[in-house]
Amino acid sequence: MKNITVIGSGTMGNGIAHVFAQNGFEVSLVDLNEEFLTKALATISKNLDRQVAKGILTAEEKDNTLGRIHTLTQLEEGVKSADLVVEAATENMGVKLDLFKNIDALAPKSAILASNTSSISITKIAAATQRPAQVIGMHFMNPVPVMKLVEVIRGYATTDEVTQKIMKLSEGLGKVPVEVNDYPGFVANRILMPMINEAIYTLFEGVAGVEEIDTVMKLGMAHPMGPLQLADFIGLDVCLSILRVLHDGFGNPKYASCPLLVNMVEAGYKGAKTGEGFYHYTPGSKELEVAARFKK
Ligand code: NAI
Repeated sequence: MKNITVIGSGTMGNGIAHVFAQNGFEVSLVDLNEEFLTKALATISKNLDRQVAKGILTAEEKDNTLGRIHTLTQLEEGVKSADLVVEAATENMGVKLDLFKNIDALAPKSAILASNTSSISITKIAAATQRPAQVIGMHFMNPVPVMKLVEVIRGYATTDEVTQKIMKLSEGLGKVPVEVNDYPGFVANRILMPMINEAIYTLFEGVAGVEEIDTVMKLGMAHPMGPLQLADFIGLDVCLSILRVLHDGFGNPKYASCPLLVNMVEAGYKGAKTGEGFYHYTPGSKELEVAARFKK
């Protein structure tokens, strides 16, 4: 594989483009408009600078990496000579199904089509194409240049050959791929989200406060970040939507979202990106401050 096309240049897409380009692949990065793409290139450049400062890359390697990323706003141009397409567009079923239908029509017949979705069924996405055997999940973690894991998700029709190619490719990116089957939440979110939900229930029921809950999990279970802080970073709306996928997919009440989470999302307190979730975020400050409503 030589030519990689990344669809969507947001949080995940720019990281995925960065990692492929850093490892010598030619990358076409596609988004809806120039403004998003300019912002993505600036983010990639800043993240590469960080790697140069740490001695991971030379300044020349940084320039070469940037030189391998080609930005485009036309899907057809972007995918027409792709060996692999990695879709990292907005997490919305309609958007993904439309995109895969179009990519399938425009990409070479031999191309593998991957999705970075965190919760949408790979089998369903694959069924929107004429090549379900060549559709797979490549679930990178945020921030992509730093996190080692790639959850490789086999759809119902994905072949062994395609799975092995993607496992090998992920290793070539310096990642550790883990093969999983396509069921709601895959592995990562099926285990993580119920834990986050339980942490929110623990707060909701008054068992302990925000800091206490996070401290127990950090110091007691050696988690680098407590579950409430992690939920803020992921985005409380994202957590809620993944819990709903688990609840709908399994029909099991154990996945029912805590009403406090629902209220916070509906009120617009979605975590770090909105400035407030379980913690309050002041731009430029690294100090972790519990949100006023949860202070004792
Ligand atoms: P984001 O909102 O930061 O970026 C999405 C990008 O896709 C935007 O730039 C948007 O303009 C673009 N886009 C939307 N429709 C498009 C189309 N038709 N063609 C081209 N570009 C299009 O979203 P984010 O966070 O990067 O998420 C992307 C995917 O990665 C989602 O499926 C999400 O579930 C998954 N994911 C997100 C993680 C995270 O921590 N943010 C972690 C792992 C997976």
